[in-house]
Amino acid sequence: MNPLLKGKHIVLGISGGIAVYKAVELLRRLSDQEAQVAVIMTRNAQRFVAPLTFQALTPYGVYTDLFDAYRPGAMDHIQVAGWADLIVLAPATANSIAKAAHGLADDLLSTVLLACPAPKLFCPAMNVRMFENSILQANLQILRENKSHVLDPSSGLLACGQEGAGRLPETELIIEEILRLLSPQDLAGEEVLVTAGCTREGIDPVRFISNPSTGKMGFSLAQVARRRGAKVTLITGPTPLEPGPGISIIRVTSALEMEKEVLRLFPKATIVIKSAAVSDFRPKEYIPQKVKKKDATLQLTLVQNPDILRELGQKKKKQFLVGFAAETRDLLENASQKIKEKNLDMIVANPIGKPDAGFGWDTNQVLFLFPDGKTESLPVMPKEDIAGLIFDNILNRKKKKPGKL
Ligand code: C5P
Repeated sequence: MNPLLKGKHIVLGISGGIAVYKAVELLRRLSDQEAQVAVIMTRNAQRFVAPLTFQALTPYGVYTDLFDAYRPGAMDHIQVAGWADLIVLAPATANSIAKAAHGLADDLLSTVLLACPAPKLFCPAMNVRMFENSILQANLQILRENKSHVLDPSSGLLACGQEGAGRLPETELIIEEILRLLSPQDLAGEEVLVTAGCTREGIDPVRFISNPSTGKMGFSLAQVARRRGAKVTLITGPTPLEPGPGISIIRVTSALEMEKEVLRLFPKATIVIKSAAVSDFRPKEYIPQKVKKKDATLQLTLVQNPDILRELGQKKKKQFLVGFAAETRDLLENASQKIKEKNLDMIVANPIGKPDAGFGWDTNQVLFLFPDGKTESLPVMPKEDIAGLIFDNILNRKKKKPGKL
């Protein structure tokens, strides 16, 4: 469950387009995360999906009429507007957008939008010609200028049979935007560089040396940083993971490629987190043709890869530099040694071989260590929560030493 959503008051406004059925899934996902969601449906929205479907998915009420307030226990439009931490309009039709842009208030949803001081997110969904119409675009611009947020629709085949922009974005993307809007923007102005995943060191075209790192920790760090307002670049080794929106991603294969990209981007970064499990060794020679079984000698000569983190520690100027240390034994001793040797500002150490922690899991169990010897040991928790705590610590430390970092 995401702590950003738990207990948050969200008004889900639903206006009448074919994408109304997708709002069912959105409500379900928000309720699963323990957000408290009140639904407002326009008259046309109710023609696509019955209010009963939404009622089954939230105990916080489905409102369909300005005069619902006369139902016992129901909120009136001013109460709903004051109760909301966030209003999400999904799908937002051309009509509901036009009304909101011009301050019309002729039904419950438009009235609540006008009366609500909370952030508003409009998720337009309609036919591509309607979406591209300059009047609709001008209305969206008015909303943006009045501090509302607009999530651009996805492109593809539309329900009307035409192709183009106008699809309601995937639920995942809407939720990510909600999380961004609910996050403190305390990393605004920071340029965060994160490395993630494993590296692959080629032996021949079909064989390589690698490790089981999936990149989940690094992807979580990138996601959380972006939500909190940072400009984020993620350099990752091979992984099937896809980054969330707004993250610039560079995919590499070997440690040498990762080194090149990290060194290129390091000077601009203000926070650098090296969560990648970089392979320490690579084969001395790469054999360009597949080695035949009968030709193999079964002996591989390895050479050391550059220690990228150590190089960064030497070059460091304004950057806050965070390393990871995965250890099978003497966790604290090894991590303390690394923080000094590599000139780091923080190290995140995690034991390998424990259940629920390390490679491939959604959770991890880590210990933070700082150059002044302070440590903080955390219980097993989701990697996303660990990412949040890493940035909390970075910001605290950066505040303490403004001149130095
Ligand atoms: O010394 P060790 O490899 O355990 O240190 C782990 C940390 O160093 C991680 O932050 C990892 O990304 C980084 N590292 C690196 N280059 C290497 C090996 C590790 O940057 N060749």
